Amino acid sequence: FRVLLLNGPNLNLLGSREPEIYGSDTLDKIEHRLREHAESMGITLDCRQSNAEHQLIDWVHEARTSHVDYIIINPGAYTHTSIALRDALAGVAIPFTEIHLSNIHAREEFRQHSFLADIAVGVICGFGAQGYDFALQAAKHFLSKQ
Ligand code: DQA
Repeated sequence: FRVLLLNGPNLNLLGSREPEIYGSDTLDKIEHRLREHAESMGITLDCRQSNAEHQLIDWVHEARTSHVDYIIINPGAYTHTSIALRDALAGVAIPFTEIHLSNIHAREEFRQHSFLADIAVGVICGFGAQGYDFALQAAKHFLSKQ
């Protein structure tokens, strides 16, 4: 299986960004661990991060032509603002998981609405970096039973 991991704006700052909310692991460390985890499950994992909405959208479009089976996406603040990213994910019709390090429901009210969640297979939030491992496991489970 081919899985694409997308991280959106400001997630390149993980490790130093509000560590009391987002933890102390860097994105590099998370991606490295996840690639090893994926390999042991027979999954090819492609990891990308961008601060730009258009770049994330282009990668979602590209996922269809490169036959990606599943997308794991932490859209950062675009979760709460981007109808365009929602339309891209709906457009390619690739099953995806929305993930957040923090529990967005326990934070400011403006974080409690997601433009993506209702078209996702599922949402994982509040488990910090470990959530990415859960998301990978969930993707594998979803793809294996198809
Ligand atoms: C986040 C939650 C978002 O509300 C926030 O804008 C982020 C990170 C998370 O992983 O907890 O950038 O997606």
